[in-house]
Amino acid sequence: MSDRIMMAPSILSADFTRLGEAVSLIADGGADFIHVDVMDGHFVPNLTIGPPVIKALKRITDTPLDVHLMIDNADWTVQWYLDAGADWVTVHAEACDHLHRVVQSIRAAGAKAGVSLNPGTPIESIREVVGIVDMVLLMSVNPGFGGQAFIPRIVEKCRALSALCAEEGVTPLIQIDGGIDVDTAPLVAAAGARCLVAGSAVYCSDDPVVAMNEIRAAAEAAL
Ligand code: DX5
Ligand code: ZN
Repeated sequence: MSDRIMMAPSILSADFTRLGEAVSLIADGGADFIHVDVMDGHFVPNLTIGPPVIKALKRITDTPLDVHLMIDNADWTVQWYLDAGADWVTVHAEACDHLHRVVQSIRAAGAKAGVSLNPGTPIESIREVVGIVDMVLLMSVNPGFGGQAFIPRIVEKCRALSALCAEEGVTPLIQIDGGIDVDTAPLVAAAGARCLVAGSAVYCSDDPVVAMNEIRAAAEAAL
């Protein structure tokens, strides 16, 4: 397993009036992904951004767009995000009628596919797809908002996911999203996570690039 931690700052906590600058700042500062949170006001109790914004961001950065779909109808709308230029598309297992088919269609379009689980959803529910995804995203808060407290039990869930992947003989990237900062990042890194989403800990700090790199360093120190 790689001993490098990839960072995916979430633009949910960026200043939306200066979104392009916020993205360029962290892209130039070494972000591995730009994490884009798409919420539909239905699967989660918040509404954010959609394909037009992804299309606009694609024009200003070469850093891969990691699009996290917190939406109910991904079965029917996933193509919108692929057409807009998403490089990685993550769907929620809880929100897809035909999870296997959606994952296949993301990959067929040439993008990387991720599957995400809410804190209350057991990892066993994705055993049948871990072999066909590029990433598994464990939510460490209930999705919908930035700035929520990390749920400690996710550390054990991450360890169990690492074990499940080993049993299946596959190595999807394990990403953690929610409440990640310099204190929680080492815990999940030690449990097998190799990609960390951080919103408020990056964008609500005085220097987002310094904050991002401090979180990465804290996590790598735990490996
Ligand atoms: C929450 C989103 C997260 C959010 C994380 O539903 O999926 O990506 O931006 O924000 P923080 O890092 O502040 O918990
Ligand atoms: Zn997210």
